Amino acid sequence: MSANVTVVEHPLVQHKLTLMRDKGTPTAVFRQLLREITLLLAYEITRELPMTTKPIDTPLEEMDAPTLSGKKMALVSILRAGNGMLDGVLELIPSARVGFVGLYRDEETLQPVQYYFKVPEGLEDRLVIAVDPMLATGNSSAAAIDLLKEAGAKDIRFLCLLAAPEGIARMQQAHPDVEIVTAAVDRGLNEKGYIMPGLGDAGDRMFGTK
Ligand code: URA
Repeated sequence: MSANVTVVEHPLVQHKLTLMRDKGTPTAVFRQLLREITLLLAYEITRELPMTTKPIDTPLEEMDAPTLSGKKMALVSILRAGNGMLDGVLELIPSARVGFVGLYRDEETLQPVQYYFKVPEGLEDRLVIAVDPMLATGNSSAAAIDLLKEAGAKDIRFLCLLAAPEGIARMQQAHPDVEIVTAAVDRGLNEKGYIMPGLGDAGDRMFGTK
């Protein structure tokens, strides 16, 4: 896999992903599994966070103990399916600030159009983790990252559940500086833009809208 793509091959992630792909998995279980896998992926994406030390008193003596340094991270959901990944990250990093980016595809130009944008202040000093379960064509993800960069973000990582090679290529072309962490890279897109073999429409499956 290319330099800035990490596939998390942990057995628990892969087992849970198989359950999610299965079309017989009910909505409530699908949502719970997404939360659990996201927590495990978030563990991976935060592996290299900058650290410092601070003096503390244990019951026995003083010590300089390791602690995270820098500003609280910003977690940004790409609506609407990204919302299904918020809880998993927040369980691990409860102090993260949360933002939302909403984009829809203009049917004439086929270009992503922004309909909602609300992100934490001071993005330039924060690690920004953008979440969207499905990296398919990569068009909306690349556009969301454009907006985050316009808002000042400099250190951005992209967390997804499944990626298509086409989406990875699009992101690498538009944003080679953004690390992508995913549970799997599937075969490719079908003619409707779905990831194959994939898991169907992630938003519909997690919110029960179909
Ligand atoms: N979005 C989804 O929810 N599923 C796909 O397969 C592709 C994009």
